[in-house]
Amino acid sequence: ANLVAVIPAAGVGSRMQADCPKQYLTIDAQPVLWHSVMKVLAHPQVTRAVVAVSATDPYIADIQWPTDKPVDLVHGGKERADSVLAGIRHAIEQCNADWVLVHDAARPCLRAADLSQLIATTLNANQGGILAVPVRDTMKRATGSRQIAQTVDRNALWHAQTPQMFPAVLLADALTQALAAGATVTDEASAIEWLGQQPLLVEGHADNIKITHPEDLALARFYLTQELS
Ligand code: CTP
Ligand code: MG
Repeated sequence: ANLVAVIPAAGVGSRMQADCPKQYLTIDAQPVLWHSVMKVLAHPQVTRAVVAVSATDPYIADIQWPTDKPVDLVHGGKERADSVLAGIRHAIEQCNADWVLVHDAARPCLRAADLSQLIATTLNANQGGILAVPVRDTMKRATGSRQIAQTVDRNALWHAQTPQMFPAVLLADALTQALAAGATVTDEASAIEWLGQQPLLVEGHADNIKITHPEDLALARFYLTQELS
């Protein structure tokens, strides 16, 4: 199986309020994006990476990738799903991908063991699979006026992370159709769900954070010094 990583890195990082998009903030002298890409390329079954960047990105050309595996660039789109779809189309048409592994540029703390578990499990699942963690806190459903309507059964709730891995053509078709129908597509699995299929939940770790708010950068720096596996 030819498994190609697709990394959406075309966002502006508005919630981060930094001087540059968050994927270009540095940890240990390398951009967050660099860490995320190198983490997925470290897996022996990932053959190459396709990174979706903004058409006006001034930073990407300066990055050196210390790997023998190709790192291709494509232009992303308006929403995350548009960037992912551009990357998948390139992976299918130019790289002969039959599986794609989509991983946020803003998740540099991915553990190698969790990536291995996801890939090994999902290669046997035609509907794909994602890394996720069970919800820890008690969950409340709110009323419109911010009162508690009820407690939601936590045992059925998981936090979706990336990587998310699918047969390449299945995901391209699902995203194309879901976007055309105006469905809400905040991750890859939601497009597959929209088709009526049920991707696997593979349990990862809560330290695989998506850098989103200013305080997250220090936390990611801390996790990356920890030799987690
Ligand atoms: N992304 C992308 N193309 C977009 C929007 C987002 O490739 N049009 C990427 C981001 O670069 C990031 C990942 O998708 O790696 C997850 O998205 P998110 O955390 O929402 O990043 P941003 O959209 O950049 O941040 P914000 O929503 O705070 O503006
Ligand atoms: Mg966003």
